[in-house]
Amino acid sequence: MFFSNLLGWESALTCKKLCLAAILHDLTLPNPSLAAFESVESVKNSGMLFSAEEVSAFSCHSTEAAKLLKDMIEIPADVEQIILEHHERPDGKGFPLGEDYAKISSLGAVFILGESYINFLSSRKNLSDFPKFDEFLKDRAQLFQFGAFKKFLQIIKMKLNEGEDPFKLTSV
Ligand SMILES: [Fe+2]
Ligand SMILES: [Fe+2]
Repeated sequence: MFFSNLLGWESALTCKKLCLAAILHDLTLPNPSLAAFESVESVKNSGMLFSAEEVSAFSCHSTEAAKLLKDMIEIPADVEQIILEHHERPDGKGFPLGEDYAKISSLGAVFILGESYINFLSSRKNLSDFPKFDEFLKDRAQLFQFGAFKKFLQIIKMKLNEGEDPFKLTSV
């Protein structure tokens, strides 16, 4: 919502889609600790004792969650798409499909950027050490240098520099 508001995507429907995806995207993870990981490799290399079943469930949780929602008519199709794409990466090194920036949907891209920012913030050990947005851009510059990902981050940076409030109320 922080990013989509800054991009000017303030409709109630867009807000609903992103909020539903935020609530449901990790629905099928068998262990809530897995939600903090961005890739299958990072789960395997974490040093935490996840079982083989948990690692396997992590590697297909995007597909499984999207599948669960497929027949629910109350859930807009875009929500399934965002969920399916939430671990894809613009360089094509994500999962489960390994699709790159040219294939990832716009809503999926904003969701990926948002979750990446949350992960960046939560990687800070000291909460008083609240990072500036520029630090996030620098940290992820290489990963997000492609297509819509780059364009969205440029707009978000410009709006923040203009002093726009990302927490303004979404129109209904
Ligand atoms: Fe996930
Ligand atoms: Fe997540």
